[in-house]
Amino acid sequence: MPAVQWFPGHMNAARRAFAKALAVTDVVIEVTDARLPGASSNPMIEELRHFRNRPCLKLLNKADLADSDATRAWIAYYSAQPNVLAVAVSAKNPADIGRIPALAQQLAPHRSGAEKPLRMILAGIPNVGKSTLMNALLKRRVAQVGDEPAVTKSQQTLDLGPGMTLTDTPGLMWPKIEHDTDGFMLAASHAIGRNAVADEEVAINLGIILLARYPALVETRYKFSAAGLDGESLLELIAQRRGCMRKGGGLDLEKAANILLNDYRAGTLGRITLETPESRRGMLQSGTNNALSAESGDLSAC
Ligand code: G4P
Repeated sequence: MPAVQWFPGHMNAARRAFAKALAVTDVVIEVTDARLPGASSNPMIEELRHFRNRPCLKLLNKADLADSDATRAWIAYYSAQPNVLAVAVSAKNPADIGRIPALAQQLAPHRSGAEKPLRMILAGIPNVGKSTLMNALLKRRVAQVGDEPAVTKSQQTLDLGPGMTLTDTPGLMWPKIEHDTDGFMLAASHAIGRNAVADEEVAINLGIILLARYPALVETRYKFSAAGLDGESLLELIAQRRGCMRKGGGLDLEKAANILLNDYRAGTLGRITLETPESRRGMLQSGTNNALSAESGDLSAC
């Protein structure tokens, strides 16, 4: 991983602010990316909400981009956990958003009315759709929405109809991503800043997952057989097919990497989920412990 900037000050401040806000919160609404629910769940949020014994409404957002079979498996996985209610949503679908207050209420039935308002906090890593969701919940634009991590900066508490408040928090990353695969999935999905990991390396790792899980989608999109390809040869073929050439000659693999990443991010390849509960269990059991750490990577998202 290339050595680039890291801002522990930001992260510590965001963690402190979140921990403080949890003291006066009834339900944590954690937004994750349905395409990588495990990798996009911040262990720090989990740790702090357990410390305060707060229930969690786990939103698997961007479900419109994810593989629905995998989403069902993730919902079952999370729903088996105590004090957790998990649902798949698309922040761009008003019907999905309309269900959220009632779902949160189920987790804290003792809180209702002006005297004891249901106090919710919205948290998640950058780029999972918190701002989009907040705007949809409030039916107005309250926070800047953008595809660059760290756009949402400040914490704010807003009334969400009678007897309900919602606190917005900045994108919250944790200090050390234990597994390289998580780092690559997060970078492919734009949760880690653009400079964190070279696009080519991210695209090669994305390619490996796509070839293993969705070869037919790759073939349909790029019009070549995926048989026998690995991440690098996939990029080479995309470069050839799309005429990505360097000025001095040779294939421009960086351009090909951007084509693959953009196609994945925009959903142009089709509905894709990068990990399942089983694949994640396997990854954790294999004991891979390659750290993308504060020293080696830019997690400048907070
Ligand atoms: P954040 O606050 O957690 O950092 O995320 P934010 O709401 O800024 O959303 C990040 C990007 O994800 C935005 O894309 C947003 O539109 C998109 N997004 C959020 N929720 C969903 C969803 O449920 N489905 C899909 N398909 N996309 C979602 P963008 O490219 O920056 O903006 P836009 O051009 O899509 O508006």
